[in-house]
Amino acid sequence: MTDKARIAVLISGAGTNMAALVYASRIADCPYEVVLVAANDPAAPGLTLAEAEGIPTFALPHKGLTREAHDSAMEAAVLEAGAEYIVLAGYMRILSEGFVERWTGRMLNIHPSLLPKYKGLDTHARAIAAGDSHGGTSVHLVTPELDAGEVLAQIAVPITPQETAESLAERVKLAEHQLYPRAVADYVSRWRNPGWLLAQIRTRALALPETCEQESFGSAGFRAGEGKSGKYFAYFSDRPHGHERIALLVKTSGMDELHALVEDQPETYFKPAFYGASGWVGIVLDRPDLDWGAVDAWLQRSWRSVAPKRLTRFMDIADEF
Ligand code: GRF
Repeated sequence: MTDKARIAVLISGAGTNMAALVYASRIADCPYEVVLVAANDPAAPGLTLAEAEGIPTFALPHKGLTREAHDSAMEAAVLEAGAEYIVLAGYMRILSEGFVERWTGRMLNIHPSLLPKYKGLDTHARAIAAGDSHGGTSVHLVTPELDAGEVLAQIAVPITPQETAESLAERVKLAEHQLYPRAVADYVSRWRNPGWLLAQIRTRALALPETCEQESFGSAGFRAGEGKSGKYFAYFSDRPHGHERIALLVKTSGMDELHALVEDQPETYFKPAFYGASGWVGIVLDRPDLDWGAVDAWLQRSWRSVAPKRLTRFMDIADEF
């Protein structure tokens, strides 16, 4: 069993982006593997290549099927292959809302324009007609609205004086073949990327009332309350003192709770060096199945334990009912 993320690639045609994804996955440290190539056209040339590469394939024409029925059959094949992510690579189908929603945050697409410009078709011709200096390509998360999900990565490609839609398309493809494997690799391994994890913690911690960020012994710390009277309620700890894990440190009610947590769930909780002595617990963040809801709950609880009374009073009253 490898610890690589399992991706299914959906295509309709040539599948050159699929090929780029496959060959990038053959580099030893690539964090994903392609476990299925599926197409809505059994004649899609990309299928032949995938077969030659020993990758399981699936093809089902959409003709005569409702959108939902076709999507469910594709989805069943994806699940059967054990894929955790769906990567669309020139899959020329509008997907049903239910399908997209079930894969929220786990479905990516590549689109040949610098989104949000030129959603939909004929992107290169439209960029040239508009007199743009650059065309390009974007990798984005798939949401029910076409080509409108969060953009994860882009490459801009200059438009030359004699440019045609065809010549631009060709160069954009070269850019896509570099961009897509890298963007997919970054996305599936973001759960162990300290920069991404810190950004998540920062957004969540600073969303609580009257909070600010202040560094403490090289770690990002988050304080509740104003100025000097503010108190720390969370630290982002990126493997100091030889710790192997990236963690969030928050306050428990005391040593009894801290020890119980560490004993019951040693995969999730640990007693941090220095801070542990005063009842702070370390929550391991770099795990693919991290429960962000639980992280939020800990941040709120820890905030509440140090925040000024005038901010927590109403919560305390509400708790009494
Ligand atoms: C790519 O240009 C991609 O941006 C768009 O469809 C094209 C697919 O090409 N979504 P290929 O099948 O990967 O060669």
